[in-house]
Amino acid sequence: MRCRKCGEKAAINMRQHKLALCGTHFLDWIPEQTQRFIEKYRMFGEDSRILLAVSGGKDSLALWDVLQRLGYQTTGLYIGLGINEYSMRSQEMAEKFATENDLNLTVVDVADEEGATIPEASKLTERGKGKPCSVCGLTKRHMMNRVAREGGYDVVTTGHNLDDEVAVLFGNTLNWAVGYLARQGPVLEETAAGLVRKAKPFCRFYERETAAYTLLRGINYIYEECPYAEGATSIYHKELLNQMEEVRPGLKLSFYLSFLRAKESGLFVQESTLAKSKLAQCRTCGQPTTAPDQCAYCRTWDGVRKRRVTTREGETR
Ligand code: AMP
Ligand code: FES
Ligand code: ZN
Ligand code: ZN
Repeated sequence: MRCRKCGEKAAINMRQHKLALCGTHFLDWIPEQTQRFIEKYRMFGEDSRILLAVSGGKDSLALWDVLQRLGYQTTGLYIGLGINEYSMRSQEMAEKFATENDLNLTVVDVADEEGATIPEASKLTERGKGKPCSVCGLTKRHMMNRVAREGGYDVVTTGHNLDDEVAVLFGNTLNWAVGYLARQGPVLEETAAGLVRKAKPFCRFYERETAAYTLLRGINYIYEECPYAEGATSIYHKELLNQMEEVRPGLKLSFYLSFLRAKESGLFVQESTLAKSKLAQCRTCGQPTTAPDQCAYCRTWDGVRKRRVTTREGETR
């Protein structure tokens, strides 16, 4: 297989685009495409202040690298979840990348902020039925928005890739979760109630492309997945989608793009309008919520703190 641009040996063949490229041309192609997506979906502009959520994994570090190469102003945000070795190693990776590239990284630790790590909290709440992923997702979203609001950022970006997006889309379609489908897309607009704009500049890249990019750029990242990800439905959906992709190259991309086109032509407009009209401010933290009084984050963490006190009292008795 030869590079379409220079005829040298190809480093990657992207069957969904019928495009093979050598290392050098692939390393140019990724930022060019990213810039195209940023403009196409009106994610942010040259002067925007960008808060980039970095997990220490390949996608978010690759995104940080690409946005730097494109000349954007970024600050990284790492959220310490307290998941033993995994969190320690991922934080090291994020910090190492920031130091080596002379970038600003803000670190927020959940246990320092809220008094318990994610695994501890998940044992003290009904949410997620003992599995930490639900509390974790809720907490990450809340922290990203909080830091972005307090720091006056224009947009929060995450490293979600096409495989992530398609797995979520697949799951939501199986359940016809119209509320979630209405919110899914490359950009989540800011709201008057205080939700900072969110963007996913890598949402059209396959995971193997972001992996190839980090490899060719020599970026070190944490290879391990979160230990709680094992057995997750989203991983099962990713496997199924990869099997289908094998037989029909381009299926994942076309599933996602057709969904975006359907949305553009009016699908889920009613749900979007309804969801926006329901947004109110949480009486405790002031962040937007669809709940009438307190947001899910505050309710969950208040519950965790109460149970912690009760458990401790029980222990000392
Ligand atoms: P995940 O939910 O682990 O698939 O991660 C999706 C995206 O969320 C990553 O690409 C990051 O942009 C962001 N993210 C995940 N974990 C963290 C974290 N601990 N701190 C900051 N951002 C994170
Ligand atoms: Fe949050 Fe795994 S990263 S539970
Ligand atoms: Zn080439
Ligand atoms: Zn709240």
